[in-house]
Amino acid sequence: MSPALNIVEGASLQALNTLAVPSRARFLAAVTSTAELQQALRWGQEHKQAVLVLGGGSNLVFAGDFQGLVIRMALRGRRWEQVDEQGAVLVLKAGENWHEAVLYAARSGYRGIENLALIPGTAGAAPVQNIGAYGTELRDCLESVTVLDRQNLEVRTLPASACEFGYRDSLFKRHPGQYIILEIRLRLSRHAPLNIGYRDLQDYFDDGDPAALTPLDVAEGVMAVRHRKLPDPAVLPNVGSFFKNPVIERAQFGALQARFPDIVCYPLDGSVKLAAAWLIDQAGWKGYRNSRVGVHNRQALVLINHSGGTGRDVLSLADKVRQSVMETFGVELEMEPGVVGER
Ligand code: EPU
Repeated sequence: MSPALNIVEGASLQALNTLAVPSRARFLAAVTSTAELQQALRWGQEHKQAVLVLGGGSNLVFAGDFQGLVIRMALRGRRWEQVDEQGAVLVLKAGENWHEAVLYAARSGYRGIENLALIPGTAGAAPVQNIGAYGTELRDCLESVTVLDRQNLEVRTLPASACEFGYRDSLFKRHPGQYIILEIRLRLSRHAPLNIGYRDLQDYFDDGDPAALTPLDVAEGVMAVRHRKLPDPAVLPNVGSFFKNPVIERAQFGALQARFPDIVCYPLDGSVKLAAAWLIDQAGWKGYRNSRVGVHNRQALVLINHSGGTGRDVLSLADKVRQSVMETFGVELEMEPGVVGER
């Protein structure tokens, strides 16, 4: 017999989103196994409820209530596979805390995800936006993702090559209704070189020799750099970068650079990626706040819920920031987090 699923009606989601905005789910169920997840999805189908799958709630803005079933992924567990002298595969269930997994891998002497320390959220959410920081992206070491196919409720394993990863993008982000991530597999190394090439990390390690460092040293360096610039969601509720760094054509960039010689950019093949934080900062928004929400005073890419703000307050501030960047630079900013509920 299958275990009884605990479904709560009218549950608050305020503690389940790192922006801490008020929102309610018509129904909420926490699932700790694949069988419970299947059961919850069947229940949703039978009761004709829309379904929202929630990880750590660190990349979502609740614009209002969710009129359906919210499934909180609480599948826990981690294990090592294919351990040899070169490295190993770390397998993480979807509900594992990402940052704890990074520290666990680094303390165990494995390299590959140390630059992704302190990114809020769960392991299962990490592939959705292909989390990235300090010159490393999840796709660099992701081997495969085990998913539940929502059409037939069957379990499948997708190799990384099938996940269509891009900058803050993936198949899971573009087709949110297709799969639910159950577990991820990371190929980690015992010997791969550590990457401290990102400017902030170079400065932190004072141009030291990466060969003398351990993955735990790098994770600690990343934590120190993040603590300086990025607010702790437990203290200042936020969802990290609120916008993606925009990519524009070379010709448009040439014209912009002529007007703004200090513009911060990263050249790509045939196009240029701009630092959205710089654009927002230059447009005068850094440190702005109204009575409820604001723009972080140390990283202009992060919006903060200072005091009782709602999702709509945050989205309306985001609209103003976008409009202002468009007027000043002619550049369109795209939001990074997803929006749930009617605006
Ligand atoms: N800058 C400003 N003003 C600011 C902040 C930054 O002018 O208020 C300038 C900086 O001087 C720097 C440039 O903008 O030259 C880029 O800033 P930073 O190195 O802090 O990185 P970012 O491009 O703003 C990205 C990621 C972060 C990630 C960092 C470090 C995106 C959307 N954001 O930010 O990811 O931690 O690089 O790798 O790609 C997240 O996704 O939630 C996140 C925090």
